[in-house]
Amino acid sequence: MLKIAVLIGSLRQGSYNLQLANTMKERYINKLDLEIADIRSLPFFDQDIELNPPQVVRELLGKIAGADGVLIITPEYNWSVPGVLKNALDWLSRVDKVLIGKPVMTAGVSPGMMGTIRAQLHLREILASPGILAKLLPPAGNEIYISSAGLKFDESTGRLVDESTLRFIDRVVDKFIEFANK
Ligand code: FNR
Repeated sequence: MLKIAVLIGSLRQGSYNLQLANTMKERYINKLDLEIADIRSLPFFDQDIELNPPQVVRELLGKIAGADGVLIITPEYNWSVPGVLKNALDWLSRVDKVLIGKPVMTAGVSPGMMGTIRAQLHLREILASPGILAKLLPPAGNEIYISSAGLKFDESTGRLVDESTLRFIDRVVDKFIEFANK
């Protein structure tokens, strides 16, 4: 079973994006070993310490290096990715460059109408940069933009419950598994 590290662009306890990660963790338990990699405690990237980074950075680098792939689930902040996610990607882009060639798929949830489209477009550009150069699941047919989150998540369980969205994600996940195994 593929071991997939999950990066989440929101630190909020009640985050819809975290709820999507938890939904996927449960739903694909027999297909994927999804483990959320904590980016909350990372310091701001600082080139002065990149060769001798703190333990939290080393741990994240180790988790990503040891994973078969990465799932990035992010909200959109001001038409882009949240700084906390960009900061994590900046750490991951240096020294060991652990994302190079790593299979990556992305998803995002927004309470608004646009479902993180702009953030994920930016994210794809970032993932193609020379220090990252991830093996990104081709977006055509695989774009997970979840809009109107308030209508699609169950407030009491904190899980995505919209059936057509879930079925679409099922298909993308199957394609990602095939893509990552290639
Ligand atoms: C937002 N939000 C937002 N939504 C959106 O669709 N496009 C955007 O550009 C932004 N910009 C933005 C900036 C900042 C600083 C915040 C705090 C929020 C709203 C955002 O989608 C909403 O708060 C989500 O619920 C955040 O995701 P989580 O925390 O629920 O995962």
